[in-house]
Amino acid sequence: MSRPIQAHINLSALENNLQVARRAAPSARIMAVIKANGYGHGMLRVAGALAAADGFALLDIQDALQLREAGFRQSILLLEGFFDAEELALVAEYDLACVIHSAWQVDLLDAYPKRKKLDIWLKINSGMNRLGFAPDKVAQVMETLRRHVAVRDITLMTHFANADEARGVAGPLALFNEVAAPYRMARSLANSAALLRYPATHGDWVRPGVMLYGASPFAQGVEGQPSARQLGLKPAMTLGSRIIAVQELQTGDEVGYGALFRAEQRMRIGIVACGYADGYPRQSGRVEPEAPGTHRPTPCGCAPGGTPLLVDGQRTQTLGRVSMDMLYADLSNLPQAGVGSAVTLWGDGMPIEDVARAAGTISYELMCGLATRVPVVV
Ligand SMILES: Cc1ncc(COP(=O)(O)O)c(C=O)c1O
Repeated sequence: MSRPIQAHINLSALENNLQVARRAAPSARIMAVIKANGYGHGMLRVAGALAAADGFALLDIQDALQLREAGFRQSILLLEGFFDAEELALVAEYDLACVIHSAWQVDLLDAYPKRKKLDIWLKINSGMNRLGFAPDKVAQVMETLRRHVAVRDITLMTHFANADEARGVAGPLALFNEVAAPYRMARSLANSAALLRYPATHGDWVRPGVMLYGASPFAQGVEGQPSARQLGLKPAMTLGSRIIAVQELQTGDEVGYGALFRAEQRMRIGIVACGYADGYPRQSGRVEPEAPGTHRPTPCGCAPGGTPLLVDGQRTQTLGRVSMDMLYADLSNLPQAGVGSAVTLWGDGMPIEDVARAAGTISYELMCGLATRVPVVV
């Protein structure tokens, strides 16, 4: 028997989630975001399951070439565009679309041999201040690009900082619309949260990422925020393992590095074959009161409660500090559980958002952080 940890990738969940996106934005084309190795799910297998998407967005030109060589004919968008003049030749040869977000990229266009024209997505900074031209620079860049012999089509795009937050998109959306108003060009604004929440952002292309993998883009545990299930999304990744040892604790016994958990009564704990070297967040884990009412903060400064997980299909929690290869599961209320019991760290029946929240992170980071040593079963 090999180490029991596995990540199960459910391709039909990806297909289902694409349909949820289609139904929510029926008039827009879908640019499925598959960067970061398909949010940790495996880029090529994700692209295969999402073959009905109208396009794929990613970062690395090598990934784009791999998609083309695997036979994908859809539009492929490089979200950070090209990085040097050599890449431009490949962009043209493989018929890739690329974001232009900075003046240095416009300058590089002049060095391009112009054998084939390029499709450009001109990025406008609508307030996030990450990538994109300031609104007052757009007219001038547009002038250059429209006259440029290397440019075929221009799509206008922006990205929202707060589509998933209470602040929403009203300000950036109004700004984008004002800047884009003079141009009869395709538009793309919406990530998953905007797609689901703000139809006014749909434009010509939506760019869903996290929802395709089955996680809600909205903060969980906040009143009125829908869960993935309520949105009709199904988890595409289930991280599972097994209990490989059981310890019987006496009152006062401590658990794990730093002794962050101390038993207040006799209890059983299960040792699960999953640790931070598998991609499980080390910040998670229950910080037990030293004395009633006081919590020892973890070194990262956060003091999460027990992170939820399933043992034999029943919800329980982690205890103590996660180590490189193992973590501790509370078996207090699971007398039947023991060595060999199945554990679900996240995925089917155990929303990844709940795990992320307990660990002070987001589902995106957990998905993308799945370690390469974890065997994947499709
Ligand atoms: C430019 C851009 N568009 C779309 C997305 C997809 O966002 P989400 O995964 O929240 O749907 C991302 C992801 O970060 C992005 O950077």
